[in-house]
Amino acid sequence: MTQPQDWWRQAVVYQVYPRSFADSGGDGIGDLPGLTSRVPHLAALGVDAVWLSPFYPSALADGGYDVDDHRDVDPRIGTLEQFDVMVEALHAAGIKLVVDIVPNHSSNRHVWFQRALAAGPGSPERERYVFRRGRGADGELPPSDWTAMFGGSVWEPVGDGEWYLHLFAPEQPDWNWNHPDVREDHLQTLRFWADRGVDGFRIDVANSLAKDLTEPLPSQAELADLVDGAHRFFDRDEVHDVYVEWRTLFDEYDPPRTAVAEAWVPAHRRARYASPEGLGQAFNFDLLLADFDADAFRTVVTENLAFAREAGSSSTWVLSNHDVVRHASRYALPAGADQNAWLLSAGKDPEPDTAGGLRRARAATAFILALPGSTYLYQGEELGLAEVADLPAADLQDPTWLRSGGEQKGRDGCRVPLPWTAAGPSYGFGPGGAHLPQPSWFADVAADQQDGVAGSTLEFYRKALAERRRLQGAEELTWIETPPHVVAFTRPGGWTCLMNVGGEPVDLPAGQLVLASGDLTGGRVPRDTTVWVVANA
Ligand code: NOJ
Repeated sequence: MTQPQDWWRQAVVYQVYPRSFADSGGDGIGDLPGLTSRVPHLAALGVDAVWLSPFYPSALADGGYDVDDHRDVDPRIGTLEQFDVMVEALHAAGIKLVVDIVPNHSSNRHVWFQRALAAGPGSPERERYVFRRGRGADGELPPSDWTAMFGGSVWEPVGDGEWYLHLFAPEQPDWNWNHPDVREDHLQTLRFWADRGVDGFRIDVANSLAKDLTEPLPSQAELADLVDGAHRFFDRDEVHDVYVEWRTLFDEYDPPRTAVAEAWVPAHRRARYASPEGLGQAFNFDLLLADFDADAFRTVVTENLAFAREAGSSSTWVLSNHDVVRHASRYALPAGADQNAWLLSAGKDPEPDTAGGLRRARAATAFILALPGSTYLYQGEELGLAEVADLPAADLQDPTWLRSGGEQKGRDGCRVPLPWTAAGPSYGFGPGGAHLPQPSWFADVAADQQDGVAGSTLEFYRKALAERRRLQGAEELTWIETPPHVVAFTRPGGWTCLMNVGGEPVDLPAGQLVLASGDLTGGRVPRDTTVWVVANA
């Protein structure tokens, strides 16, 4: 029997990117009252928890991941009182809340960063961040040639011979995690939200807090060879000391607060992030990176179930989030297609197989929802949304686009405000416009067009989540032998999941059919389709 504190082990967690979910105010930016008004949608969908991406005050240099104040709400998104109302509404609907914590960096508008700039070189204020003197007689050269995730140097000069480190945008200065103030301040932040009723935390770039900047600094080319804990800023072993401290705090609550690490690390390094002494769970993005292929899926699942077991955790499954091309579009492109080039061609080259992409997306979703572990869904995928690939350059907001000089189109195409209704301003997103332009095809896929419509993607998700809730048992799976283009397994209780990833139709497993991701052909399972069958008692 699952204990209440283990709710996260096999939860369906729905990610809300708040600025694009629902807008109550009409300023084109989604907000907390908007989210609260849509709790009935989440309840009808049947999710166990919401993961709320950053809603903190921010200049939006990186979609809110540049946090000015980690213990407040962006006035455009709401107030702390509205946050409390939202928590109450979610909890009343039986939905838990996980919030995003961004511990690698603050924004450059954070009061401590502003003080560090004002206090000057050598001051204690600068020690909370990572300042270094530049190379050259007057410090006019960056301390190293390291490149930032969004392009350009990781070092930004401040005009007095010193430079500060930012692994992401210059508006996101990295904290110095060796500083006791930084550690203490984050503990306060975690307590602040846990005391307000937050059930868990998603930890942004959890693998990059610990840094070794001992001179001489290696070159960018040399960094690549520093693996398994030896890298200067990724996945160093000391990072886990931070999470051991956090775990003590989480466990002071009843039920203990949960956490999931966003850590793009090799699979064999994931266990420590996911261990019960650490954050407790870690994302794996392996399926999101895999081709739509039976062997690839089977291998990823087998490996990750083993890693999760080794960690004492449960596995996580993700096909879409706010950082990647939506899976309905990924699966509409030929395997191995260059997604950025496709986005730069405004979604025209190659021409996407839109219907096939959606069919495969639904099949893959049904597949991951049947797996042991937690499934993370991204807002809008329950409508079968495709990427908005043709956003005009002038509207793009992602720093990836701006800092790559237009070489990388970035992540805005999966962050377009949701269509709730076919009619009305901004397709029901709010009473005004939308902060990113919505395409006219949103009218066809709006939630109100799918509600109650047999075969719609929305009804398919609702059914899948309801059946999963009913069928979910022990975290175990047994593979079934199948033809090469098919992947299938059973779960305890006689629940069988079978996916045909592309080939001749195959027979249904014996038993009662409870879910099909698409139409069957002559009673058989066609390509790009997943079925769930329950053995007759
Ligand atoms: C990962 C987040 O998911 C992404 O959106 C963000 O840009 C980076 N971390 C930096 O915070």
